[in-house]
Amino acid sequence: MNILVTGAAGFLGRRLIEALLLRGSLTDRTGESRPIGQIVAFDMVELTGIDDPRVKVVCGDIADPEVLDRLIDAGTDSIFHLAAVVSSQAEADFELGMRINFTATRNMLERVRTLGTCPKWVMTSSVAVFGGQLPERVRDDQVWAPQSSYGTQKAMNDLLLADYSRRAFVDGRSLRMPTIVVRPGKPNLAASSFASGIIREPLNGQPSVCPVPLDTRLWLMSPAQAIRNLIHGHELSAEQLTEGRVINMPGLSITVERMIDALRQTAGEEVAARIRMERNPAIERIVGSWPGAFCATYSRDLGFTADEHFTDVIEQFINEYLPG
Ligand SMILES: NC(=O)c1ccc[n+]([C@@H]2O[C@H](COP(=O)([O-])OP(=O)(O)OC[C@H]3O[C@@H](n4cnc5c(N)ncnc54)[C@H](O)[C@@H]3O)[C@@H](O)[C@H]2O)c1
Repeated sequence: MNILVTGAAGFLGRRLIEALLLRGSLTDRTGESRPIGQIVAFDMVELTGIDDPRVKVVCGDIADPEVLDRLIDAGTDSIFHLAAVVSSQAEADFELGMRINFTATRNMLERVRTLGTCPKWVMTSSVAVFGGQLPERVRDDQVWAPQSSYGTQKAMNDLLLADYSRRAFVDGRSLRMPTIVVRPGKPNLAASSFASGIIREPLNGQPSVCPVPLDTRLWLMSPAQAIRNLIHGHELSAEQLTEGRVINMPGLSITVERMIDALRQTAGEEVAARIRMERNPAIERIVGSWPGAFCATYSRDLGFTADEHFTDVIEQFINEYLPG
């Protein structure tokens, strides 16, 4: 199998590549399990630290059509398309968001269509496609009403992928990911960045600001679960996707208050006390428009899975990033 991963140097991209290398094989479009021969790891930032002859690191701008022509060819069996700019960045810079989050996806799909090879394609959509008046638990047939440019760009990609799949230009699956926590490293420009920050920073001995009210309900997934689901999404056959190509992932529904309780339970009061409440109307507006819980019936029927306890999610982060 020849696989392309875009956004390869990012949070999920790197983990996905590591997991694919460990797994060693994937199922192709005909249903045959084949060894992974090559993973093209594409990003504008160089992916470093993965030393495996099956990985070919390529740097470039995904919005450049000439780059795409070199990146995707008739030998590309599967594409995991993860490259994107995050929500607050797409909101602050409309042109950048449109170029990277939408136009690049459209150009990639066009490249695939003109090649006529119909590769498997997995991409990450977002709960940000929903907004407005929402029920407590969003059903799979909820009308999309994004309240941000990021959400709109993800929704447009979902529509395109569904139509390109219907016309058999590509064998697509778009996974609507919950917010993925706990993200290592520094805060980023995602409106949801605090969801990792209020766990990560206190565990690292640093103060953290929570910009939303304690009763804000979030829909979350751990990184390990996200990677498992991305690969599971790839492995499903087209025939199994009876309810469409855009799939709301299962997740863990939890309030910010319960997240902080779980931190207190896992790491103690002193650690939890490093969180300061300071509301930020801009973040509150974006995050508050996202649903806090989903039925996710279709995805559960398809075998996608969710984390059960937030304490396990915290422990996953501690074991991976704070050994000892
Ligand atoms: N992390 C989450 O909570 C979450 C939730 C829902 C959906 N998603 C989606 O999942 C995907 C991956 O998320 P992530 O958390 O790994 O993001 P990330 O920001 O860590 O990684 C995205 C990668 O895309 C790359 N990129 C950006 N612009 C590019 C360009 N012009 N050309 C080439 N590469 C470019 C970046 O360098 C980065 O490495 C994204 O599409 C994101 O929208 C993430």
